[in-house]
Amino acid sequence: MKDIKEFIKKLPKAELHLHIEGSLEPELMFKLAKRNGIKIPYKTVEEVKEAYNFTNLQSFLDIYYAGAKVLITKQDFYDMTWDYILKCKEDNILHTEIFFDPQTHTQRGISFETVIFGIKEALDDAQKKLGISSKIIMCFLRHLSEEKAFETLEQSLPYKDYIIGVGLDSSELGNPPKKFEKVFNEAKEHGYKLVAHAGEEGDISYIEDALDLLHIERIDHGVQAINSEALMQRLKEEQIPLTVCPNSNIELKVFENYKQHNIKQLLDYGLNVTVNSDDPAYFKGYMNQNFFNLVDNIPLTKEDIVKLVKNSFNSSFIEEKLKQEYIKRVDEVVEKYE
Ligand code: ADE
Ligand code: ZN
Repeated sequence: MKDIKEFIKKLPKAELHLHIEGSLEPELMFKLAKRNGIKIPYKTVEEVKEAYNFTNLQSFLDIYYAGAKVLITKQDFYDMTWDYILKCKEDNILHTEIFFDPQTHTQRGISFETVIFGIKEALDDAQKKLGISSKIIMCFLRHLSEEKAFETLEQSLPYKDYIIGVGLDSSELGNPPKKFEKVFNEAKEHGYKLVAHAGEEGDISYIEDALDLLHIERIDHGVQAINSEALMQRLKEEQIPLTVCPNSNIELKVFENYKQHNIKQLLDYGLNVTVNSDDPAYFKGYMNQNFFNLVDNIPLTKEDIVKLVKNSFNSSFIEEKLKQEYIKRVDEVVEKYE
């Protein structure tokens, strides 16, 4: 292999775990704060970046929710989403499935409609102008109540055609899947696909319960699965996708450093692992940077990288025909690099 990083750049990719609010770069945060007359507790972009010094998931979430307060108008949501789409273009992402957290905004009096239309219009333009396809997944905040999740599900129904599925994010520890069993069951009845963050900081019971009680199709993170042979076996047999986010795991101290990250072990075991950027504005880089950090520290082969990239397309919620077209485009690049 001439240059593995060149190969990574050239490969068409899909992203399955990206919080759109986590793509809000400090520069845009300042611009929106000014535009909307909102005070933020930083004077410069450098100061913001210094504050991004996390010790665990909660220490990140506190800053992330504070940052989202600058988002007020439909145009704000459009601008944030469009900026992320430009990063997709740069990183050769052909398809992206993005999360948004309606409650982060509706709690502050921003309407569901403002949020969803801002995001959707940018994604429509991404398809029209750049040929990038996408899906939108709405997440319930697990630190809030079951009742609030039901309210949010209800609010989403007029916009159901624009939302492919529901997810579960925010503070994992102390907010187990069981708390959302009923609302996930109801979401399924409405035709939503189901995913959930599980086994990011939480132990294997969070993954098992997300599978058994919430009936999810993909596990977001899932890296703690390594602690149970039985669960590893099950994930392998059922080929349940794991949307792993390496930079996030390092920044939130789930692993001490990239060399300690278990992605290669998960992959070698035969799990359906994918690489994703989670909250790239907060975790020092987008999709390609996640791959670069991995290959700089872990002996991933060219075959491993191709497998990771194909797993993402195969595990996406894209219609089958388009999936095959995208995978063909991956194969074309692979052949050139033989
Ligand atoms: N919300 C945004 N990023 C998250 C993460 N990594 N885990 C849980 N909730 C999140
Ligand atoms: Zn996440």
